[in-house]
Amino acid sequence: MNATAALARLGELPAEPLFAGVTALDEAHRLREALGPATPRILVKRDDAIPFGFGGNKVRKLCLVAAEARARGADTLITVGGVQSNHMRATASAAARLGLRCVLIANGEPPATPRANALLDALLGAELHYVSSREERAPTMRRLATQLRKEGRVPYEVPLGASTPLGAAAFARAVGELIAQLPGDVVPDAIVHASSSGGTQAGLTAGCALNGLPTRVVGISADDPASSIEAEVRRIIAGLGTMLETDGDALARGVHVSANDSFVGEGYGVASPASWEAQSLAARTEALFVDHTYTAKALAALIAFVRDGRYRKDQTIVFWHTGGQVGLFT
Ligand SMILES: Cc1ncc(COP(=O)(O)O)c(C=O)c1O
Repeated sequence: MNATAALARLGELPAEPLFAGVTALDEAHRLREALGPATPRILVKRDDAIPFGFGGNKVRKLCLVAAEARARGADTLITVGGVQSNHMRATASAAARLGLRCVLIANGEPPATPRANALLDALLGAELHYVSSREERAPTMRRLATQLRKEGRVPYEVPLGASTPLGAAAFARAVGELIAQLPGDVVPDAIVHASSSGGTQAGLTAGCALNGLPTRVVGISADDPASSIEAEVRRIIAGLGTMLETDGDALARGVHVSANDSFVGEGYGVASPASWEAQSLAARTEALFVDHTYTAKALAALIAFVRDGRYRKDQTIVFWHTGGQVGLFT
């Protein structure tokens, strides 16, 4: 595999400039201090602070995905998620900015009074369809897309979480952004982040491999078993091959993929004692806000790893904040 050529291809992928520049990499001094003298250096990659559509990891992915949609002449973005999906809100935001229509298929009940992401979806002018289960989302998206095509429209289907190889490529690129802003000759020992549909983790894992970083990327599950996330991450990495003109299967085989499902607690979106602790500690030490569905559980994992002595004091851990703070207002 020619990593230099693959990185060059990665850099050339067309992107919509939904946000310009880079997100901050903040040193979490007070959080480190609060966790005790043996705590490693903690740097926080602030994708929560992406200044577009309330930010988060989905905005990065959508920069590339929306560029492909436009190149294909799409007039509508169509996607799926839960009623409070960050991904649906980011997709509706991208559609609004690009002058496209947006159709969302949500599993759950229409909220009597839309709040948080559901409120933003409505403000953004997205057309919502409700189904009663997760399983009905993808077939409903296909059916609605077919119907739209019959009406002469050009829909672009964005799969769950925009976790396609193209969406993941945005995070492989973001590793280059991280490297450029690391202080001195610091190489992170680990990147810890929230993981669900696998695209963020696939991109970060592939990006570290292509850049020759020894960094362990650890995805903390919001819901699914670690084994299914790991399989999905490898599948997405393999899918990067064609796009990057490299052997995707070799890339997927050669990386270390690590998901952890020990912090899900009672389930998706349900707060746990550890996520409550992480949430209040992050707010009180760093004015950093994490949500119970994704990022508080990922931070709870990082805190547990520190307490278990998994890291040394002289190591550096990046907590990649993937957003989701709108979820605080449900
Ligand atoms: C805030 C937040 N963090 C993390 C994730 C997980 O990202 P991915 O779906 O790429 O695994 C999501 C996706 O739903 C999210 O909304």
